[in-house]
Amino acid sequence: MSSTVVTGIGELVTCDGNDGPVGDRLGLRHDAAVVVQDGLVAWVGPSADAPAADRRVDVGGRAVLPGFVDSHAHLVFAGDRGDEFAARMAGTPYDGGGIGVSVAATRAASDDELRSLVAARFAEMRAQGTTTVEVKSGYGLTVEDEVRSLRIAAEFTTETTFLGAHVVPAEHAADRAAYLDLVTGRMLAAAAPHARWVDVFCEPHSAHAFTADEARAVLVAGRDAGLGLRVHGNQLGHGPGVQLAVELGAASVDHCTYLSDDDVTALADAAGTTVATLLPGVEFSTRSPYPDAAGLLRAGVDIALATDCNPGTCYSSSMPFVVALAVREMGLTPGEAVYAATAGSAKSLRRSDIGQIRVGSRADLTVLDAPSHVHLSYRAGVPIARALDLAAPSGGP
Ligand code: NIG
Ligand code: FE
Repeated sequence: MSSTVVTGIGELVTCDGNDGPVGDRLGLRHDAAVVVQDGLVAWVGPSADAPAADRRVDVGGRAVLPGFVDSHAHLVFAGDRGDEFAARMAGTPYDGGGIGVSVAATRAASDDELRSLVAARFAEMRAQGTTTVEVKSGYGLTVEDEVRSLRIAAEFTTETTFLGAHVVPAEHAADRAAYLDLVTGRMLAAAAPHARWVDVFCEPHSAHAFTADEARAVLVAGRDAGLGLRVHGNQLGHGPGVQLAVELGAASVDHCTYLSDDDVTALADAAGTTVATLLPGVEFSTRSPYPDAAGLLRAGVDIALATDCNPGTCYSSSMPFVVALAVREMGLTPGEAVYAATAGSAKSLRRSDIGQIRVGSRADLTVLDAPSHVHLSYRAGVPIARALDLAAPSGGP
């Protein structure tokens, strides 16, 4: 059993503070050290009191925080939709229709091609401080291609999500009911052994996505197959996604771009069960209005931040970018945004072993080339965050 002591932590963000305002929950410690044993945090305390360990990594006064938890990403896809983004910036609105372009490219890709695309995206995320990623299928939309997407995702993460109900694929356009039968029947049965979660794009504003009744059928079938529930909701306009997610006790409802007062009340009542996962990279990349994250916090809603990294609505893998957007555009303080991107998103995955730095948690540590977490949004766009690689002699590059 080898142990490592990480010393010289100028600011340690534990996300293990008191209940109360999120700023307090950050649990900041200064001049701290962390002992890591067998991948878990074994000790946290003042640097001056750090016990001896087999190895010592000194981070030279830098800030350390829990690795970002990116609880919403679509990484298993091939092809490129840069032209769609350019057209959108010239005024063409997003309606989900481009998903079919990625479905065609993904079906045409070999396993090895898809695997190396996912590997590159994971490496990109880790290099920006992300240590846990949820990965959805949803660009296969046949039994074989959905299972293949989930198998490949499972090579990289345990947080795998079956999203056969992403859109109705072109070959089923004339018969939505048949596709729903497939998604809730044979496709689900084949996918479930490779997935932890089921998700659905519930969006009445897109002809390609699913109505409330269709989405309920997908979620109930997924739950019956043993999967946890996640929902894409209220992305393109006001809609039923949030209420459906709360009704079914989903772990997370994601996007929440357009929320009514009733939606906010329902989410506040569901705190502790359903997290509102905000994806500001999507508002950025689709020129949509940003939801009022600060208002959600004031109302008592549990919030998370994630990238939604995907080829259509946000081809960014950067949690620091998301944190900066949440601060600048959604009213969060730098501390609230960091908390939502770590402990908040861990909660949306119903995980208590990540998103915090405390004895017994996973030793997923991210270091900043900066003295405090404030710099993540203060120095937006500057690559200051990286996951600490404790296997490397100095903690990584
Ligand atoms: O979360 N809205 C549904 N799915 C993705 C976008 C997928 C795509 O356009 O390729 C999202 O925004
Ligand atoms: Fe998504």
